[in-house]
Amino acid sequence: MAGLRRYQRYAEELTALIRSGEMAPGTRLPSVREASRSRRISPATVFEAFYLLQARGLIESRPRSGFFVRSAPQAAPVRATSTAPRSRAVAVSDLVFEVLEATRRPGVAPLGSAFPGVDLFPLKQLARALNTGMRQLEPARIVEDLPPGNERLRRQIALRYALSGTRVAPDEIVITNGAMEALTLSLQAVTQPGDAVVVESPCFYAALQALERLRLKVVEIPCDPRHGLDLAALRMALHRQDVKACWLMPSFQNPTGASMPEARRRELLALLESHEVPLVEDDVYAELYYGAHPPSPAKAFDSRGLVMHCSSFSKCLAPGYRVGWVAAGRYAQAITRAKVMTTLSTAVPSQQALAEYLAHGGYERHLRKLRRTLARQHEIAARMAARYFPAGTQLSSPEGGYFLWVQFPQGVDTLQMHREALERGINIAPGQIFSATRAFGNCLRLNFGHPRDARFEPALKVIGELAAAALRP
Ligand SMILES: Cc1ncc(COP(=O)(O)O)c(C=O)c1O
Repeated sequence: MAGLRRYQRYAEELTALIRSGEMAPGTRLPSVREASRSRRISPATVFEAFYLLQARGLIESRPRSGFFVRSAPQAAPVRATSTAPRSRAVAVSDLVFEVLEATRRPGVAPLGSAFPGVDLFPLKQLARALNTGMRQLEPARIVEDLPPGNERLRRQIALRYALSGTRVAPDEIVITNGAMEALTLSLQAVTQPGDAVVVESPCFYAALQALERLRLKVVEIPCDPRHGLDLAALRMALHRQDVKACWLMPSFQNPTGASMPEARRRELLALLESHEVPLVEDDVYAELYYGAHPPSPAKAFDSRGLVMHCSSFSKCLAPGYRVGWVAAGRYAQAITRAKVMTTLSTAVPSQQALAEYLAHGGYERHLRKLRRTLARQHEIAARMAARYFPAGTQLSSPEGGYFLWVQFPQGVDTLQMHREALERGINIAPGQIFSATRAFGNCLRLNFGHPRDARFEPALKVIGELAAAALRP
């Protein structure tokens, strides 16, 4: 084991014990403190070794109990690499643009799209609200509505937070051009080029593109389709390196659909607070829950103003109006100034239209219908996928939004499938665009938010056939 670093040597010793069966499945590993004392190595070195074993799929962490040998040692579910997640430079844009360009081709079935069908939105009522809103606008305000943005709209947004139990003052809300601008301004407010930022793995490709453009380094932390972010892995990453921010989606994560249970959100916040690491919370699917109540955002548990909660109307009401916001906590002033220096302001007519619609347009009624439609559509899509996809395929089970995360058996290459499906008029989002490491080559994100599109079922059948063909010996 010459040439190996200390943590690697320790990890190799434990690996040998696990593989030989001397440490049987279910065995508890020594605590970090015990191991550090008995081996005379630092706790950070023990953490690194455990992380490596976890990434190899040999051990697992159990909340508040420690680390245990996994019952059936297997490849880690979501990481393709076997090294600890060091920060790395990002270069995903070429692949992402290749895939996105295909989404825009007219006539293709939009299973790879990031949007639900436009026929699900109240476009006529919005047009009426735009008209009314603009007629009511005092002419002077058309040049005065500078950041943080339209006050009536900010009050409406603050009211929605209050009604769902999260305290946000109108003063900390900055209106932006969609959630994307909210997210990037937030990230810029707390980072400098070269800094390390934590994201989920897999994660929304535009987060990776934002990091690439801002010359930030990425630290990818596993995100399980059922439970969301691996908090033990995050704890280790924060312990081991100087992370300047996290960009995470605790609710209806894109692409896995995962939602963290409330207790784990609280744990996440406590962890970030203990390291003073700000959270850029991407919550664009917040309104699209299937259950009786919305999940509380991580922002709800933020006592220190560290969370920048970003969302928009793009996915639930008004695509194309490009109105989003950030509830920015202690960073509100910095973000307001950055917004003025980049895009000056968000288009006044769009802000007027949304302020008017939220006040009088029947938003709740629209949302109730949209949620019901998407929940029903999820059941249909899951049933069809089970019918058409090969045995061994795993599907996520989202509690909101309109994405299924599909894990085909190893042997299926979804980037290749993307190219073949496109020739047959179908667009899919291959797993590789959701990670800077090009992992998830056997996965895809499937959009089921186009209930009136008759091409959906035949398209699933074709995808199933392509997957089966790839698995044939
Ligand atoms: C997870 C996620 N965040 C942010 C965005 C961007 O939202 P907006 O269109 O409001 O800029 C999207 C859009 O696809 C998304 O899926």
